[in-house]
Amino acid sequence: MNIIVTKKSSKGLEVVFLNKKDLKSIKSETLKNSGFEAKNGQMTVDADILYVGIDGIKTADDWMVLGLKITQKLKLVKAKAAVIDVPKNCAAFVAGLQLGDYDFNTYKSEKKKATLKTIYLTSKSNIVKTVKKAVAGAQAQCAVRDLVNTPPNVATTTFIHDYIIDKFNDTDIKWNRYDAKKLKELKMEGHLAVGRASVQPTMVMKLTYTPKDYKEHKVFVGKGIIFDTGGYSLKPSGSITTMQADKGGAMTVIGMMEYVAKFGSEYKITAYLPLAENSISGDAYRPDDILTMKNGKTVRIVSTDAEGRLLLADSLALAQEENKDISKIYTVATLTGSAVVQFGDEGAGMVGYNDKLKKEVRKAGDKAGEDFLDAAFHKYMMDSVTSEGVADLTNTSNRRTMGCQTAGLFLTNFIKKKNKMKYLHLDIAGPAWVPAPFGVNPKNGTGFGTRTLINLVK
Ligand code: BES
Ligand code: ZN
Ligand code: ZN
Repeated sequence: MNIIVTKKSSKGLEVVFLNKKDLKSIKSETLKNSGFEAKNGQMTVDADILYVGIDGIKTADDWMVLGLKITQKLKLVKAKAAVIDVPKNCAAFVAGLQLGDYDFNTYKSEKKKATLKTIYLTSKSNIVKTVKKAVAGAQAQCAVRDLVNTPPNVATTTFIHDYIIDKFNDTDIKWNRYDAKKLKELKMEGHLAVGRASVQPTMVMKLTYTPKDYKEHKVFVGKGIIFDTGGYSLKPSGSITTMQADKGGAMTVIGMMEYVAKFGSEYKITAYLPLAENSISGDAYRPDDILTMKNGKTVRIVSTDAEGRLLLADSLALAQEENKDISKIYTVATLTGSAVVQFGDEGAGMVGYNDKLKKEVRKAGDKAGEDFLDAAFHKYMMDSVTSEGVADLTNTSNRRTMGCQTAGLFLTNFIKKKNKMKYLHLDIAGPAWVPAPFGVNPKNGTGFGTRTLINLVK
């Protein structure tokens, strides 16, 4: 589906927005008989007009959801084209239109035919750039959905590696691969232990965007576990399915970079994407193993299912060793089941010491219609990941509660003192993959967080 800004009158189903007070002036009998009350989201087609109710619509978020519903309706009625005079909340509305076109049918033997070819947009003001950016943001999110929805037998570490090369090779984004041999040289035992049992190669992919002049350098580290069996701490069958979504953090960062490849950024951006499969074999890492991490700290493994933090910790250490001018550093990960319990399927958790950073992400999230909620610490939990004697740390907490925060605390142990206030951890375990649609997100892979991250770098 194409979204095109046009000045000329174009052919297609005309979308007409109606408030309750507009109803009196409309003569359509079909509309009157359909029970149309102009409520937000109500839609009726009469001849070549699609009437859309907007009574009670308020926020940009509402306009985004309405955009989504309009595209879905246009597809349902098999319209080939539509013409819309865009509302004030142009960016959100257009993102919604584009997101409404999403469908993952790669693995269906019978594909639905796409009938909707073009949505023409008209406006009194110049909306070309706004529309282009909104469409690109939504397309980046849909690319993340595709990656997350691609099953683990296909979306292997090699697949993601090849995807990155293919996407960024002819752009301003440079990529590097650190293979297992290199990771060994770099003493990243945490990462290597997690990936060791799998036949899939383990690696860190690094993406870099460097503008000519920049004032800030933002670093993103995304968890890319292509499948999380739990390892020897095997997940029960009820929770092992959907663990293809455990690459969600890394995929979200890739989506953000796809946007940067198109429009650039005023910031220097470096992304570290540790990729691995948490599997089982005779060579798998075990509970009771003690690992020496890149920054020299030792970790006693209590659960091989708490693998994400090991991988992220080593990449955090690597990122800080390689970059001395970091202004902000984020981890983005489907890190804990606790985050799902605390923030639901629809919300992500933020863990860190700097409230300003949290505020900034919350704002970027609000603009994207994505909710990032504060996972705060309390003073009694600060020792929850320190090992009882044998090693510096354990990879699980010594209490049953606040698992999202204790995972964040573990990661903070790999942040240098000078970077402590520059670091924020984002746990997207809930919304990265959902059992039922919400907002503009479909069931399964949502691409949640992509547009928030884009807002942080644009
Ligand atoms: N990948 C999971 C977290 C997860 C759970 C993501 C549900 C999405 C939905 C992670 O690696 C994990 O298994 N974490 C454990 C940690 C625990 C053993 C300390 C968890 O949350 O149960
Ligand atoms: Zn796990
Ligand atoms: Zn995991």
